[in-house]
Amino acid sequence: MEQANENMLTIALSKGRIYNDTLPFLKAVGIQPAEDPEKSRKLIIGTNRDDIRLLIIRATDVPTYVQYGAADLGVAGKDVLMEHGGSGLYEPLDLNIARCKLMVAGKPNVDLTASRGLRVATKFVNCARRHFAAQGKQVEVIKLYGSMELAPLVGLADCIVDVVDTGGTLKANGLVPLEHMADISSRLVVNKASMKMKHARIMRLIDELKVAVDKAKAS
Ligand code: ATP
Ligand code: PRP
Repeated sequence: MEQANENMLTIALSKGRIYNDTLPFLKAVGIQPAEDPEKSRKLIIGTNRDDIRLLIIRATDVPTYVQYGAADLGVAGKDVLMEHGGSGLYEPLDLNIARCKLMVAGKPNVDLTASRGLRVATKFVNCARRHFAAQGKQVEVIKLYGSMELAPLVGLADCIVDVVDTGGTLKANGLVPLEHMADISSRLVVNKASMKMKHARIMRLIDELKVAVDKAKAS
């Protein structure tokens, strides 16, 4: 097993948009991955720095690896963090990447006014329950792992809770956004114990990343 020593900083990232959008920030602070995770099957990737390595994992698993200290830091969407609950994590920096909205969506004519019995398909089961409970609605949440947009089309659910960016996926499937739940972007998260044990190095990394993020915002 590849064990991290106490000098190592381990950063958990997911392939695809989070890795692609985080890479420029890592480069800006002098961290260069030794391999491209899109081409390699390796799940632990070294960098040009002996003391920093990357874990390549599913987006939804990032908070879990960081919560348990298997990674010191990670980058995760606010949607994923809201669903996870954030226990054991600090969330010190909004990277302002992978921006989208968490929404309720469905067919244009759907009636969501019933206070019970609505079926909601989503991978964000906790967020969905919380959202409808706040409206005094008791809903039946059906857990899915992807392609939520299909559920209302085939009668599996009355509506979905999913992230929406351009709205193209909803539109292509004859669905419309119905309720805005949260503005989403990806956040740097830090394990609480790591923050204590490796405080100076983590704070320096956060400060350097913040400069890179502010520069990207201004450009
Ligand atoms: P998993 O693989 O664990 O199921 P995922 O497929 O949702 O997760 P990604 O598609 O890489 O993982 O999305 C990562 C994050 O990017 C999401 O948590 C969300 O915050 C954001 N995101 C998702 N879809 C979009 C989109 N279409 N546009 C912009 N940001 C998005
Ligand atoms: C996400 C999300 C929506 C879509 C929204 O899927 O689950 O389906 O993006 O984006 P849009 O509003 O711009 O169409 P993604 O493309 O990440 O595929 P995935 O769910 O398989 O990860």
